[in-house]
Amino acid sequence: MAITRRIFLAAGAATAAIATERFFSSRSAQAQNKVLNLYTARHYGSDTQIYEGFFKKTGIKVNLVEATADKLVERVKSEGRNSPADVIMTVDAGNLYRAQQADVFQTIDSRILKDAIPENLRDSNGTWFGFTKRTRVIMYNKERGIDLSKVKTYEDLGRDDLGYKILVRSSSNIYNQSLMGSIVELYGEEGAEKWAKGVVKNMARKPEGGDTPQIQALAAGMADLAISNTYYLARLAKSSKAEEREVASKVGVIFPNQSGDGKLSRGAHTNISGAGVAKYSPNKEAAIQYLEYLATPEVQKMFAANNNEYPVLPRGKVDIDPILLSYGSFKEDVMSSEILGKNNQRAIQVMDRAGWK
Ligand SMILES: [Fe+2]
Repeated sequence: MAITRRIFLAAGAATAAIATERFFSSRSAQAQNKVLNLYTARHYGSDTQIYEGFFKKTGIKVNLVEATADKLVERVKSEGRNSPADVIMTVDAGNLYRAQQADVFQTIDSRILKDAIPENLRDSNGTWFGFTKRTRVIMYNKERGIDLSKVKTYEDLGRDDLGYKILVRSSSNIYNQSLMGSIVELYGEEGAEKWAKGVVKNMARKPEGGDTPQIQALAAGMADLAISNTYYLARLAKSSKAEEREVASKVGVIFPNQSGDGKLSRGAHTNISGAGVAKYSPNKEAAIQYLEYLATPEVQKMFAANNNEYPVLPRGKVDIDPILLSYGSFKEDVMSSEILGKNNQRAIQVMDRAGWK
């Protein structure tokens, strides 16, 4: 039985955030002494089975502190050397990089993690590691007769003669910042700004809402194309609500940059959710053990499936969700997640200059 309670977090000097702490009951009195404090921005209730699996395997109870990435980092910083945080987990390379810059992680040297996780999906200094992959793609309204030969790359979205309208969320969103970070890396700030201006011109409306509302508006015929992570579409396709499944059925997936010369065939933009060991972790051994546990094929399968993401283990080692498979196989951009994080500030500035609200 899981006990849930709400607590107030002192986050930074002036603000307070609400976080949820869940305590997973242990099987024995002794085991209750062994606790791993997981600070996580990834809050999918279905991850519960993973915590329970870790407890069964090790006798270590996972105690969750949930908040947004920024709040978690603020909290760890304010707790300082006394922080009980063992593992800090968040989504998007941009957030992991910011956490690293805030100096909340420590370097881990784990052969198991290095062997399991491809080099481009972890920090080169060993402070954070990717545990799931998410791909940001172009979606299209299947009923509008879109000429798919005109929409093959991210570059196409910025073309003056695209002739299609695009839905996309705000530039304040980290997923867009990381996508832009990849464009900055490829084309420099000037080239990236030119592209972003083109995208802004092709927008169907001012950015509003998250990825799911873009897909819903796309299905409703408000535009021809949308930019979204695939797991949002998979979530709608699996929904218990008929109207959400109906939305998903009207939307198709284009994996960008699958063919063409040079950069054009780099593959679809791929990001991660990931974690690292907290700088002052009281249970460093358990923290490493937990990360290594997340990299095992059994847990990878669950962890990815819980949010309709892709496992970080190479294809063939873990089965991929049938809905994701139905979108087709694709080549992914193997640009290092670290670069996406490093380019974050420049990406934000470029989007500002381009008028991407
Ligand atoms: Fe998301």
